[in-house]
Amino acid sequence: MRQAKGKQKLACLTAYDYSTARMMDEAGIPLILVGDSLGMTVLGYDTTIPVTMEQMLHHTAAVVRGVQHAMVIADMPFLSYQISVESGISNAGRLIKEAGADAVKIEGGAFRSALIHALIANGIPVVGHIGLTPQSIRELGGYKLQGRTAPAAQQLYADAQALSGAGVFALVLECIPAQLAAEITAAIPVPTIGIGAGPSCDAQVLVSHDMLGLNDQFQPRFVKRYADLAPSMRAAFTAYARDVGDGTFPGPEHVYDSGA
Ligand code: KIV
Repeated sequence: MRQAKGKQKLACLTAYDYSTARMMDEAGIPLILVGDSLGMTVLGYDTTIPVTMEQMLHHTAAVVRGVQHAMVIADMPFLSYQISVESGISNAGRLIKEAGADAVKIEGGAFRSALIHALIANGIPVVGHIGLTPQSIRELGGYKLQGRTAPAAQQLYADAQALSGAGVFALVLECIPAQLAAEITAAIPVPTIGIGAGPSCDAQVLVSHDMLGLNDQFQPRFVKRYADLAPSMRAAFTAYARDVGDGTFPGPEHVYDSGA
């Protein structure tokens, strides 16, 4: 990833299950994030806050089984690394050792430096995440653009430099002005991974459910839809229910005879 900085833009997508991860890997997506966004996309919570270590382990292991080439980054869920450096190492270690992730991602600024040092010292590669950090949604007061004022922008800039200095190998910038993301990207030696942070970032990440049109309730401005799967899936479910109901399915081509 460090070699790609400034030379090649990298695509990253979230995945939460084996089949999707396998298709992404076959399509040449080099970075797959098992985001704690799974709390909303597949588990039906309102936020990422209820997501547990056991859920992250379960979904990360499924994604890892589908991947042959991509780097798999697993999110550390809320309260799996905030309580102490020791519990952070222990939980990050589980994502690497038990689930097979290549790296972990943690949210937060310069104040995470001690944890990042400790993880890296113990052989665990770390991705940072600043800007809109969904695990702090209660404190941020909603899903909104971060770094709008000069002091807020300066804080994010300083956080990016501190995290890069602490040893993260990449840094997610979520929902910040494009100009600020460009300045941070130019200032740090590690690749930035943008989501709602404009085109200057070294890599881009999208939540797969958003880009596939599986989440048709809410679409943030920064999402580009590459497919519109929800209507097709609803139509398939409706057609199946109709076919079973009227006896059209299973037809003769779907039936085994005794071979006699
Ligand atoms: O959980 C997630 O999917 C994320 C991305 C939005 C970066 O953290």
